[in-house]
Amino acid sequence: MAVRKILKMGDPRLLRVAQPVTQFDTDALHLLITDLLDTMAAANGAGLAAPQIGVDLQVVIFGTGAVSPRYPDAPPIPRTVLVNPVITPLAGPEGGMEEAEDWEGCLSVPGLRAVVPRPARVRYTGFDQYGDPVDRTVDGFHARVVQHECDHLVGTLYPMRVRDFTRFGYTEIFFPGLDGPVEDDN
Ligand code: NI
Repeated sequence: MAVRKILKMGDPRLLRVAQPVTQFDTDALHLLITDLLDTMAAANGAGLAAPQIGVDLQVVIFGTGAVSPRYPDAPPIPRTVLVNPVITPLAGPEGGMEEAEDWEGCLSVPGLRAVVPRPARVRYTGFDQYGDPVDRTVDGFHARVVQHECDHLVGTLYPMRVRDFTRFGYTEIFFPGLDGPVEDDN
């Protein structure tokens, strides 16, 4: 069990395309998941990807279980371990691809928030740490979080997806009181 250092934007390790996991239910994989969970909990995050702690593997965790202090208005998301994920955007009820906009932050981009456009509804598949398949169709904040975390596995950070830079700025300006001082906001 360990709280690991979270890499910040600018570190080239955040820009790599992560390697797939080839062996499940191993001590090394369980240790990685434990470290990710401990690190996410210590930072009050809604999700964390292995590359954010410098591990070049396709592993993400997310979910708040209860209310997230960093996203107090967001509905709870089940605690999820997702290995070797594949995300497929889905058409909305009207048939066309729907896009949604909402605020995002990132533990690797401390102190900032932005409105990020993303597909509103996605299916995600992959495996848990034991190699059991995961297959969910989701929308809302759940869809946003899984897309944000899986972006970390292909070297994409949310600022790269921002279109409207008038809605990209400091958390303490857009959401006064939501986070502590910028120095503490991981
Ligand atoms: Ni992130």
